[in-house]
Amino acid sequence: MAEKRFTVSSFLKAKKNGEKISMLTAYDYSTAKLLDEAGVDSLLVGDSLGMVMLGYENTLQVTMDDMIHHCRAVSRGAKRAMVIGDMPFLSYHVSIEDSIRNAGRLVQEGGAHAVKLEGGREVLDKIKAIINAQIPVIGHLGLTPQSINMFGGFKVQGKNEEQAKKIVEDAVLLQEAGVFSIVLECVPEGLAKLISQRLDIPTIGIGAGKYCDGQVLVTQDMLGMYTDFVPKFVKQYSSLCDLIKESTKKYIEEIKEGSFPAKEHIFKIDNEVLEKLY
Ligand code: KIV
Repeated sequence: MAEKRFTVSSFLKAKKNGEKISMLTAYDYSTAKLLDEAGVDSLLVGDSLGMVMLGYENTLQVTMDDMIHHCRAVSRGAKRAMVIGDMPFLSYHVSIEDSIRNAGRLVQEGGAHAVKLEGGREVLDKIKAIINAQIPVIGHLGLTPQSINMFGGFKVQGKNEEQAKKIVEDAVLLQEAGVFSIVLECVPEGLAKLISQRLDIPTIGIGAGKYCDGQVLVTQDMLGMYTDFVPKFVKQYSSLCDLIKESTKKYIEEIKEGSFPAKEHIFKIDNEVLEKLY
C-alpha cells in the first residue's frame, strides 16, 4: 500500500512532536521520484530553477509557465512528499485577483499541494486571499531572492536590530494570516531560534542554523551538481559533478575506441532477412 501523503497537518504535527521536517527542491520527474523514494517529506519546486535548471543569473526571469511546467513533472514523481509550488516574481505583486489565479494555476495545472511566496507585511493581503481560496501557503522571510535588487545582492538578513525586529514581526503576521510554515533564508542562527520558539507553525531553515523545525536545500547543491555558486550554508553530501564528468569521459572514450555498444546492448536480425536486403 502507498505511504500516506505528507500534508499541512503533518507539518503542524511534526512541530508539536518536535520532529524535524525535511525538504528539498525538485524540478523534474526522475529526480522527484528518487527523492520521494528516499523519504523526503516535501519537495519544493523552487524558482531557484531559474538559476539551477535554466542558467539565469537570478530568479527574476522565471515565469508562471516555467513554474507550471516543472511543477507538473515533480507532481508526477512525488507519491508521498508534499509538493510546494513557488510563486515567481510578479505573480503575486500586481493584484489580489492575479495572485489567487496564479496560486490556483500551480495547484490546478501544476499539481502542487501548496504554494510558497516571499515577503512579510507587504504581501499579507495576497496571502490571506490565497488561503481564503483554500490554497495552503508557506511564507518565506530573510533573504528573499526576488528582492535581490532591493538588498543589493545575496546578503545575510536580520543582523541588525531594525532588520531582525522586522523579520520577527513579519513571522508573527504571517502566522496570524494563516500560513502553515515559514522558510527562513540566510538569517543568523540566534534569530531563527527565537522565531522558531515564538511560532506555533514550523520554520524551515536554509542558512538559518539548526534550531529551525526543518531544513531545505537546493538538491543540486546538496548533491554537488551545481557549482556556479556554492553558498556557505550548503553541505554537499555527494560530488555528483565529478561522478557525472568521469562517467561522461568514459562514455566518450568507449565510443571513440568502439567498445560501446557491446554485445549485450544490441538487437539481432535473422541473417536470411538481412541477406535479402543486400
Ligand atoms: O527557490 C527556492 O529554491 C527556494 C529555496 C531556496 C527556499 O526558495
